[in-house]
Amino acid sequence: MQEPGTPATPIEDAKRRAGEAAADMVEDGMRVGLGTGSTVHHTIVALGRRGADIVGVATSHRTADLAASLGLRIVTPDEAGHLDITIDGADEVDPAGNLTKGGGGAHTREKVVAEMADRFVVVVDESKLVPQLGPFGTPLEVLDFAPAVVAERVRGLGARQVDVRPERSDSGNILLVARFDAIPDPADLAGRLAALPGLVDHGIFLAPTVERVVIAGVDGVRTMLVTPRTTGGPNA
Ligand code: 5RP
Repeated sequence: MQEPGTPATPIEDAKRRAGEAAADMVEDGMRVGLGTGSTVHHTIVALGRRGADIVGVATSHRTADLAASLGLRIVTPDEAGHLDITIDGADEVDPAGNLTKGGGGAHTREKVVAEMADRFVVVVDESKLVPQLGPFGTPLEVLDFAPAVVAERVRGLGARQVDVRPERSDSGNILLVARFDAIPDPADLAGRLAALPGLVDHGIFLAPTVERVVIAGVDGVRTMLVTPRTTGGPNA
């Protein structure tokens, strides 16, 4: 994130433009899932600045703290039940709209909140576009019970290396990063990872869950429609 008083880099500026563009998709009265990270940060700030009358569900403590500091109302997922839209960032976006997420260690909560929404909108700068998922590493959240066993099973699925991250998730679980390098079939790997006992969730988000990706780059902001919804408001 940009330090106060320093000029924004082109990437920081693109993150701001993508985040702010997505804020325009939110209308008063909506129930909104709020993602985690430096891009969706700008969405949340834009919503706070305009005094949006929304009910938000946060994907992390830091997002909840930011939203609350801006006067946005935050409730738990169970209190909201269902969301109109969730807006979140991503670490990688492939040409089909599959994502790697979890660079901030929040992917398990982010997946819950994305799934609760009619529309899952992803905000990125164009440096996140990749020909194939994998180079970023695949974030994993695992139980603090048998992390080495889970890591060994992940290596059995083709990971060259599995690293342990120093921090824990907001749920107190261990965070790993699996180095697959290239993931030719994200749906297949997502299914195999999801089937591993002890693995709480992985950071592969599949294209059918993504409505659109808002991408900001040097040429402006564009939208990649991934899995358009049949219903939606004026911005659908
Ligand atoms: C956090 C995430 C973020 O959405 C992802 O890491 C992108 O972050 P940023 O917008 O800061 O690049 O998945 O767990």
